[in-house]
Amino acid sequence: MNDKQLVALQAAKYVKNGMLVGLGTGSTANYFIDELARLHNEAGLDITTVASSTISAQRAQSLNLPIVALEHISHIDLYVDGADEITPDKTLLKGRGSDLVKEKLLAKAAKQFITVADSSKLVSYIGQNFVIPIEVIPFAWQLAKKNLQDIGGIGDLRPNAAKDGFWITSHGSYVLDMKFDKSIDAATLNALINNMPGVVEHGIFLGLTDLVLIADNGVVSEYQN
Ligand code: A5P
Repeated sequence: MNDKQLVALQAAKYVKNGMLVGLGTGSTANYFIDELARLHNEAGLDITTVASSTISAQRAQSLNLPIVALEHISHIDLYVDGADEITPDKTLLKGRGSDLVKEKLLAKAAKQFITVADSSKLVSYIGQNFVIPIEVIPFAWQLAKKNLQDIGGIGDLRPNAAKDGFWITSHGSYVLDMKFDKSIDAATLNALINNMPGVVEHGIFLGLTDLVLIADNGVVSEYQN
């Protein structure tokens, strides 16, 4: 069993009968979805799920998990998702994929948000290994980019896979992938970007996770927020 699977199985221990559970997106979240389906189908665990992406919804559906649409819920009991970066104060960077908007909605809506990752995701500051994805309304991209450059951002629109156009998220936004100097801390960046017109959402998840589970060479450590 690899570390991503191990940590996902640990998170599944927090799921109880009757819960509405948010499903994250990515390879670690996939292991969690698979385990949830096993517990539902084989052990009779009574749960309903809501997915942060079409790909996770499809996986849940194909595994026979009961699923509701995001527009039908106002709160959830538990959200389990991976992350691209995790700092010592448990700020996350997310959104390497296309599903940032739903991921943040579910993270905020959850009574408990458990982040699951292997130790490769631990960093000392946000932006250490990845650019910060910033979803923007397509017609606002240039104005948003200028505002981001004014606070020190360097970057551009994310190209699509074929490199013949731009990446479109599941929400229908463009993505500006921006790098900032590490002297600007994540809390400051979070506040500045939250305040920018044309920005739909961004990848800094500040103060949202309640519990971080990290697997490192077969050992899971739990960090409470
Ligand atoms: C998806 O948009 C991201 O926020 C994911 O949570 C992240 O990319 C984690 O993916 P892995 O679990 O595959 O590393």
